Amino acid sequence: MTSSVALATEDLTVRFGGVTAVDSASLTVEHGRLTGIIGPNGAGKTTFIDAVSGLVKSTGEITLGGASITRWAPHRRAQGGIGRTFQSLELFDEFTVQENLLIAAESTRRWSFVRDMIDPRATRRALEAAEQALELVGLTSLASAHPPELSLGDRKLVSIARAIAGGGDLLLLDEPAAGLNSEESLKLGATLKSIVASGLTVALVDHDMGLVLGVCDTIHVLQFGKVIASGTAEQIRNDPTVIEAYLGDQDHTGSDRDKETA
Ligand SMILES: Nc1ncnc2c1ncn2[C@@H]1O[C@H](COP(=O)(O)OP(=O)(O)OP(=O)(O)O)[C@@H](O)[C@H]1O
Ligand SMILES: [Mg+2]
Repeated sequence: MTSSVALATEDLTVRFGGVTAVDSASLTVEHGRLTGIIGPNGAGKTTFIDAVSGLVKSTGEITLGGASITRWAPHRRAQGGIGRTFQSLELFDEFTVQENLLIAAESTRRWSFVRDMIDPRATRRALEAAEQALELVGLTSLASAHPPELSLGDRKLVSIARAIAGGGDLLLLDEPAAGLNSEESLKLGATLKSIVASGLTVALVDHDMGLVLGVCDTIHVLQFGKVIASGTAEQIRNDPTVIEAYLGDQDHTGSDRDKETA
């Protein structure tokens, strides 16, 4: 299968005072593939996503589809197709699932109010984007439900659908499996595979090794902000540096779950 690079970082570095959260990280995410980013707690995974989304200041280079976006503001990166989820989901509980998606679909369009008066097709396009995103994650039947009525697994899928409805074709997912039981995690894995099969690109940050090693084509391992290994699941499983990084952090399997606020 031929592939092209959707996202590449070169020497990406983020410092918070004396802490180097991301340290000269150079990695690639290939178009139309599922790429895993793993690493112990505090390894810099969320900060990496924040830096690529433009939400924290970084040094180094970031390219999207070969074009430099290093100096782009966050909204421009979103318009360029970078969609992301948050560890704490950030769904609006007062609104239906469909409305949660419409908020994202509408917000990526400039002057939507003015344009809607001139061109009602714009609203229809947002509705279609929301519908297609829900279909892609298998939640069409829950469009009218409110997030609190949904299982955690389904709320995670709504947050992914929202990133898709917002125009994301490169999805940066921050721990979508946190707090899920094994059945929900399997369903998530199958959904991620179908999302990628539809032509989108996914970078999956998670502590669920079964999920990441099971579904990802390529995996990058971060430790103390540095990329310490990159390869297939088989290569990562047998990499002595990776084994050592994880043995030094017995806590990696789920301590993040208590961070889950949704
Ligand atoms: N806003 C901030 N200010 C100061 N330090 C921060 C900030 N955000 C993150 N850090 C520090 O940067 C490092 C990387 O944190 P980050 O949240 O990116 O790790 P992570 O790999 O996502 O961890 P986890 O698996 O627990 O989610 C940690 O040492 C963390 O304490
Ligand atoms: Mg994190």
